Amino acid sequence: MPKRIIIDTDPGIDDALAFLLALASPEIKLEALTTTQGNVTLETATRNALAILELAQAGGVPVVAGSVVPLVQPLRASAHVHGQSGVGNAKLPDPKNKPVEQHAVDYLIERVLAEPNELSIFPIGPLTNIAMAIRKEPKLAKAVKELVIMGGAVLEHGNVTPQAEFNIYVDPHAAHIVFHSGIPITLIPLDVTHKCLLKPIHINRLLQVNSPITRFIKSAVETCFAHSKSYGGEGCAMHDPLTLATVIAPELLTLKELYVEVDHSSGVSMGKTFGDFLGTTNKPANMKVALQVRGDEFIEVFIQRMESLAKSIPE
Ligand code: BDR
Ligand code: CA
Repeated sequence: MPKRIIIDTDPGIDDALAFLLALASPEIKLEALTTTQGNVTLETATRNALAILELAQAGGVPVVAGSVVPLVQPLRASAHVHGQSGVGNAKLPDPKNKPVEQHAVDYLIERVLAEPNELSIFPIGPLTNIAMAIRKEPKLAKAVKELVIMGGAVLEHGNVTPQAEFNIYVDPHAAHIVFHSGIPITLIPLDVTHKCLLKPIHINRLLQVNSPITRFIKSAVETCFAHSKSYGGEGCAMHDPLTLATVIAPELLTLKELYVEVDHSSGVSMGKTFGDFLGTTNKPANMKVALQVRGDEFIEVFIQRMESLAKSIPE
């Protein structure tokens, strides 16, 4: 039985690649995309989600718009990484489909409570929608199967401040609520996503398949390559797609049970995620954290899945 997942997202180049990977993976059934502000505004995120699904001929997957601003912090976007459009240099046509006429928070609550312990949520943007759903419906925490979150930097440097990772930094108050919700959590932080790099050589390989999918990937990641060059990086980190490794290639990840806290004060370490490796807090683990990954092998799985998706959608 494929794992039934809802992706909560702010697309975003690597968010888009995560949708494509989910659609290309028989181990996964993508039930819906719920959108949030983050890399881009909510409006742009929702339009991108619809357009990417249409590109992948998956227009039947519902898209539901959620939070417009983080819980406490002002809105921040990341055009320097994802471009103004959120999908780099890719040109997506205006989507034909419309979002579901319901707020993502209500949609998540309704879907999860209708089928307790059946649905997993994969948040790959700021955690605003998930925190709001937890606060609005206390039964949600026991009914959702699990959260697999892309976020945080546990032993790794931050990518938006020296300490903090983008998704957690954008809404640290939401992260605090989610981390203490009691929901089973797997965290996929920068410690592992920085080891999964898509490089120009991979794009050249993908372009051997003539498809709107491969052309989209090429033009989307160009901005990300340029950004990575600006700090001496070697490629585009597959942050969000790596969450799906927990389903399609779990053997590539090493997880550790850990108590993780987030700084939601407004000082220099706002958004920093702290792992209690020595048990100094005496608190039980609140999540499993991925600390190691066989990154090149994950990239190989990713490329193979993209090749087969692209072959199924030829020009
Ligand atoms: C995370 O931030 C976003 O820019 C990416 O889409 C990813 O979810 C990485 O820090
Ligand atoms: Ca994202």
